[in-house]
Amino acid sequence: MNQAIAEENDTAETPAFCIGDVAVQNRVMLAPMTGITDAPFRRLVSHLGAGLVVSEMTASELLVEGDRNAVLRAEGQGTGIHVVQLAGCEPHWMAEGARIAEGAGAGIIDINMGCPAKHVANRQSGSALMRDLDHALTLIEATVCSVAVPVTLKMRLGWDDRSINAPQLARRAEAAGVSVTRYIESMLFEICGASPPGTTAARRMRRPAAKPAHVIRIDRQVRR
Ligand SMILES: Cc1cc2nc3c(=O)[nH]c(=O)nc-3n(C[C@H](O)[C@H](O)[C@H](O)COP(=O)(O)O)c2cc1C
Repeated sequence: MNQAIAEENDTAETPAFCIGDVAVQNRVMLAPMTGITDAPFRRLVSHLGAGLVVSEMTASELLVEGDRNAVLRAEGQGTGIHVVQLAGCEPHWMAEGARIAEGAGAGIIDINMGCPAKHVANRQSGSALMRDLDHALTLIEATVCSVAVPVTLKMRLGWDDRSINAPQLARRAEAAGVSVTRYIESMLFEICGASPPGTTAARRMRRPAAKPAHVIRIDRQVRR
């Protein structure tokens, strides 16, 4: 795999793709994984050639408060293009957290509106934000306005099967200045615009039973 990445990097006269004004040299990306994508792991994956790496989900409020773990999660030294994923439920925490992450080296801020874990969703963060798009937009706008780096957004298809609202959120987020919206699980496929599986928050981490026709439909709606 390293050789393949190296060859793509070597032969790529133009970047594989861009997120805002950030050029990414290849399509190998490290998805955010709490408990796994810590700073040493990100440095290792970056060193092995990944185009970009994403931090563990970081609570914006804890980052602002200077919580040691949150600060470590946002640290970007030696990681090439470093994406810090922020979660939160208040615009001012998101704005301040994004500023701090940018100051600590983040090349991109990713907003988490996909985490279904109870300790996150019960605090109206993560996937719970998909239940109130107006409120979700206040967080997005605050984040976009507070930093110069591109902002991306990871979301679910919706809160549950009866409320598939990813297209609405994606359109509103992009109008608010978000560079890439990811309404499905796999970062690589999402950014490349392919049609991987997607899930709702209610299905939590499980794969959908059916083929993702709804994902393809949403993709068309968003890109129209
Ligand atoms: C252990 C673990 C932790 C994860 N933590 C996060 C997280 O902090 N933020 C996030 O957006 N996604 C998180 N995810 C979801 C992954 O980023 C990814 O979207 C998911 O594993 C599906 O990717 P795949 O289709 O390539 O397997 C986590 C996944 C796993 C397995």
